[in-house]
Amino acid sequence: MNTITAAITAVGAYVPDFVLSNKVLETMVDTNDEWITTRTGIKERRILKDADKGTSFLAIKAAQDLIAKANIDPLEIDMVIMATATADMPVASTGVYVATEIGATNAFAYDLQAACSSFLYGMSTAAAYVQSGRYKKVLLIGADKMSSIVDYTDRATCIIFGDGAGAVLFEPNYEGLGLQDEYLRSDGVGRDFLKISAGGSLIPTTEETVKNKQHNIVQDGKTVFKYAVTNMADASELILKRNNLTKDDVNWLVPHQANKRIIDATAGRMELEESKVLMNIERYGNTTSATLPLVLNDFEHLLKKGDNIIFAAFGGGFTWGSIYLKWAYDKK
Ligand code: UT7
Repeated sequence: MNTITAAITAVGAYVPDFVLSNKVLETMVDTNDEWITTRTGIKERRILKDADKGTSFLAIKAAQDLIAKANIDPLEIDMVIMATATADMPVASTGVYVATEIGATNAFAYDLQAACSSFLYGMSTAAAYVQSGRYKKVLLIGADKMSSIVDYTDRATCIIFGDGAGAVLFEPNYEGLGLQDEYLRSDGVGRDFLKISAGGSLIPTTEETVKNKQHNIVQDGKTVFKYAVTNMADASELILKRNNLTKDDVNWLVPHQANKRIIDATAGRMELEESKVLMNIERYGNTTSATLPLVLNDFEHLLKKGDNIIFAAFGGGFTWGSIYLKWAYDKK
């Protein structure tokens, strides 16, 4: 009997139309285009302006894009995993609503939250379900409406984040393509360095928490940066060594798009040339759970069947890791 591997067989994405440029941010907080560009690599980000639309709106659009492009019958989808840090509501899974709205009514669905590593962890989960032989079509969506939790008077966070969504389909593969290896880690030492402190069971919502802006995301950027650089690079180097891959064996690095300097450090440790490092941070900023699928969608035309891709991410918690995946198709 052939071993089942779990391959990505389709990609879709969506970003809202509204562009928030560095120039406009200059009018909102004490910052400037030059600082943002040199410190982060970001030039603009997309914002979902409609106050009555949540993350599910972005997720549905991305999933529908995938379904249309790949010509899939949504009734065949077995499972929907919704990777997000900005669920529509604290209770009532966003993934469940999204699955129903896209017509995946034979699927079961749930949300998976690991901050900026949500999609990376979701890849592991989706692949495990497929490899086990239990399900054949697992839709993994990464979506975040970061603008719903960003304080646009805090220059340490508002310059970084943007809204967006991406989706991939995992299916069984019998040629050995798809997910090959993973190294996923987490460390609670990070809990206080990147968080929304209130609105959960520890500090429930009160007038006080609203007044103190405890429902917005805050970070100690310098500390997060330090941990991110070390851990993303360590994880990526480890996954190469463990799989006897040299830099020449790697076709592409698909890194979480949080800061170009973090990406450069990871690529540097892997000794990868710049042309193999896929980046769109300049246009979207950090879309949290959506960065990895947005990169796949933007560069899908470059990916060839059999290409060796290294994914890497780092996020709040802390959570981080690296995944080695063999691409399974040439774009038609
Ligand atoms: O996906 C995981 C989530 N987050 C991350 O991965 C973010 C990781 N951290 C970062 O990307 C970076 O730490 C930031 C982009 C957030 C900040 O860059 P930095 O190089 O670490 O800057 P810093 O916080 O050390 O600040 C350097 C200086 C400070 O001024 P002084 O004290 O040197 O006078 C800041 O006050 O830059 C100042 N500064 C700014 N200046 C203009 C901080 N934010 C800004 C700003 N515009 N937006």
